[in-house]
Amino acid sequence: MENFNFYSPTEFVFGKGRAAETGHFVKKYGGTKVLIHYGGGSAVKSGLIGIVKKSLDEAGIQYCELGGVQPNPRDTLVYKGIDLCRNEGVDFILAVGGGSVIDSAKGIAIGVPYNGDFWDMYCGKAPEKALPVATVLTIAAAGSEGSGDSVITKEDGMLKRAVGSDHLRPKFSVMDPALTQTLPAYQTACGATDIMAHVFERYFTNTKEVEITDRLCEAVLITMVKEAPRVIADPDNYDARANIMWAGMVAHNNIVGVGRQQDWNSHGLEHELSGLYDVAHGAGLAVIMPSWMEYVYKHNVLRFCQMATRVFGCQMNFENPEVTALEGIHRFRSFLHSIGMPINFAELGAKEEDIPVLVEKIGIGDGKFGGFMELDRNDVTEIYRIAAHASL
Ligand code: NZQ
Ligand code: ZN
Repeated sequence: MENFNFYSPTEFVFGKGRAAETGHFVKKYGGTKVLIHYGGGSAVKSGLIGIVKKSLDEAGIQYCELGGVQPNPRDTLVYKGIDLCRNEGVDFILAVGGGSVIDSAKGIAIGVPYNGDFWDMYCGKAPEKALPVATVLTIAAAGSEGSGDSVITKEDGMLKRAVGSDHLRPKFSVMDPALTQTLPAYQTACGATDIMAHVFERYFTNTKEVEITDRLCEAVLITMVKEAPRVIADPDNYDARANIMWAGMVAHNNIVGVGRQQDWNSHGLEHELSGLYDVAHGAGLAVIMPSWMEYVYKHNVLRFCQMATRVFGCQMNFENPEVTALEGIHRFRSFLHSIGMPINFAELGAKEEDIPVLVEKIGIGDGKFGGFMELDRNDVTEIYRIAAHASL
């Protein structure tokens, strides 16, 4: 295991009806004037925004609001939010929604105190400070409620880029699984896929002797294989929703990834798909991740056998381990398909002829990227090709 620091200061406020306590927690963490940031309307329609406002009123906290965050959140709204916060004297950002809303809120939070273009931080500059951010989560997926990451798309060129900093870890996150019961099945499945992908990005590693994080990863994956089909079949199943919601946080606040090298190539490849076609991140991952696995499994066949046997219940073929590894990948793709995810370019709405554009946008030039297995532009092209034609 490698040396590590693990800093996860977020207070998680978990359970039914907890959004009514939002004002109390804003006060606890020093907010006096809040920006309530939300998406395209689901949080208004469900009555959640009303509950949050009432709770802020009761705590004597002032607020202004900015809705309209789109999935794959855009820089244009972040600029608007930064101006609004400066004009209104906002000192605390409250994201009410999913990963897109939270990431947009984090973009605003680093932009307000920064004397320059906030986009600098999505091009490699390290954030030095940020306004405090908190979340009321409405979808289990991105894990942004517990992570220090934010992913924003620059509308000019549809460039999707990320920043990571402990300044962006939420002060608190309200996590009420019942709030996710209004999700369409497709979004639930996209979220489940993203959660599993966050674990796999950490699971496939070259670091040896990482039994504890291997086992934690497997626990999250096995939970998702069990619970995702339950909520697709029965959207009001609170207990299954609760397990998934906590799994989503655990998958990405890095507790399952500390002390080990991580990969993140599938996310790198996917971000170009959701950037170019404006599709859901989880759907893009369903197409990319099993294809990436098929391309790289020979790098460490036994690690793929471990996934196959421990997570997907495959029988180990000791004479020919590759058979087991491939069976595990096949079961993963079949699972994704069974919960309604696309598995190839056509089902996602992507085009094979755009592969050179996708490869160019990744911006690796003549270099390589990734952790488990480093990839150059030829490797990336090949993975996109596998993804274009994947079938069951
Ligand atoms: O906009 P509204 O009307 O709220 O609708 C949203 C949106 O259309 C809807 N929705 C959310 N909660 C709902 C609901 N509909 C009904 N009932 C509810 N309770 O769901 C749609 C998708 O929402 P979005 O926030 O985009 O989903 P998600 O949480 O999957 O976030 C995706 C974004 O997060 C980024 C992705 O790249 C993508 O841009 N990621 C962020 C990460 C991070 N910050 O740590 C890590 C991830 O790997 C990921 O890249
Ligand atoms: Zn993700």
